[in-house]
Amino acid sequence: MYSNQAIFTLFLCSILTSTYASSISSKIGINYGRLGTNLPSPYQSIKLLESMTAGRIKLYDANPEVLKLLSGTKLDVSIMVTNEQISGIAASQSNAENWVKGNVLAYYPNTRIRFILVGNEVLSNDNKQMWLDLVPAMRNIKKSLKGHNIHNIKVGTPLAMDIMESSFPPSSGQFRSDIPSQVMVPLLRFLNGTKSFFFLDVYPYFPWSSNPTNINLDYALLEGGNATYVDAKSGLLYTNLLDQMLDSIVFAMRKLGFDNIMMAISETGWPNAGDIDQVGANTYNAAAYNRNLVKKVTADPPLGTPAMPGVVIPTFIFSLYDENLKPGPGTERHWGLIHPNGQPIYEIDLTGKHPEKERTRLSTAPSNNIPYKGKIWCVVASQHPDPMNLEIELDFACRQGNGTCDALAPGKACYEPVSIAAHASYAFSSYWSIYRSSGASCYFNGLAVQTTTDPSN
Ligand SMILES: *[C@@H]1O[C@H](CO)[C@@H](O)[C@H](O)[C@H]1NC(C)=O
Ligand SMILES: *[C@@H]1O[C@H](CO)[C@@H](O)[C@H](O)[C@H]1NC(C)=O
Ligand SMILES: *[C@@H]1O[C@H](CO)[C@@H](O)[C@H](O)[C@H]1NC(C)=O
Repeated sequence: MYSNQAIFTLFLCSILTSTYASSISSKIGINYGRLGTNLPSPYQSIKLLESMTAGRIKLYDANPEVLKLLSGTKLDVSIMVTNEQISGIAASQSNAENWVKGNVLAYYPNTRIRFILVGNEVLSNDNKQMWLDLVPAMRNIKKSLKGHNIHNIKVGTPLAMDIMESSFPPSSGQFRSDIPSQVMVPLLRFLNGTKSFFFLDVYPYFPWSSNPTNINLDYALLEGGNATYVDAKSGLLYTNLLDQMLDSIVFAMRKLGFDNIMMAISETGWPNAGDIDQVGANTYNAAAYNRNLVKKVTADPPLGTPAMPGVVIPTFIFSLYDENLKPGPGTERHWGLIHPNGQPIYEIDLTGKHPEKERTRLSTAPSNNIPYKGKIWCVVASQHPDPMNLEIELDFACRQGNGTCDALAPGKACYEPVSIAAHASYAFSSYWSIYRSSGASCYFNGLAVQTTTDPSN
């Protein structure tokens, strides 16, 4: 009896697994962000993606030029309803219909649109109306697709880890209590009912970099070293931080009664460079993380996670390019696989099949894998900044109060030398030292840079 049951279960599982494996492949996707002034054209970008053997591309909109160029390629495509479009689409079926006509039917099936993501990290912004409109918009899009007999496009919405109230240990995973259940439960019901995925933007880099002394770097980089973690409550053994983060979502969904919603990774990656105070952002780690990620998510048979073993997790790496228009700390502009000139920043094998020779191994580990402990100043970046722009940023810094620019007044300690550049360097450092702890970065629209050299010397 027992052995019969075991065989039966095994049989069922293998059917389930093979169904998944054939309908959803494990080929790697790449996020095509375009917030740069110096990026190759869409045509060149698609050629690059094909030469890298990417299997999927994810857009942050439904750009007509890009969708037209993707026609006839083998790339599976994920397009996005922008946050601004959500409420209109939620409000009326005909708005949804128009969106689908203009952004899907115009290109499909020659352009292999496979995912429509509604909004970007909607539950991370504080537009509560948009939260409420999210699922109605997803439903309307899905309904419109069905009306056109299109059944192989999944509708989802990418969410970020900040939707979690608790994520550690994974079994304690729970969604934020300020997200009303009238948003979360219908979302999960929709994903479950349409066999779509829970799309997660998930970056082990962030928890690791905010706690690099207590979290093992190899554990964050999927390097498979000695570090493991056993979740006492579930008994599950973790060998990497990514699985831990994914499973916290799986457990949070289970708490709401949804046991079988599959995970997809809409964004993940590791920054290849960053500011001096940003630990571990370097090409060595970025190459290791993405190499290990590709191996993990393309493994055959699929690995899944400890709580969801044996399933394919469709994955999109962030991002194709370093994007120089992204504000915030330096890492924000350094998630790319490719330089704007089209050259790879490090070697990456998106098939996961090539052996170790592809490794970007340096003879010594990078020096910024431990936090920088010395002093850092925030100064004017270039020798010849545009004085008008610099003045705008200087004014911004000085307007923030808390005595940021008191020392620049005539007769005060830092009044001399009287130049915009000297005053700006003082104001940037002053502003940054006051507001850094509340999240300010040393950026000033690209005019500022961190330095370990005291500018007053
Ligand atoms: C694994 O643990 C052993 C014994 O504690 C240690 O010698 C070795 O360096 C560790 N390896 C890694 C990759 O951390
Ligand atoms: C999820 O979907 C399955 C099959 O489509 C269904 O049997 C199950 O009841 C759904 N779960 C919930 C919690 O709605
Ligand atoms: C001074 O700094 C504190 C703490 O960062 C902040 O809460 C407050 O708003 C600042 N004051 C002004 C006038 O900006």
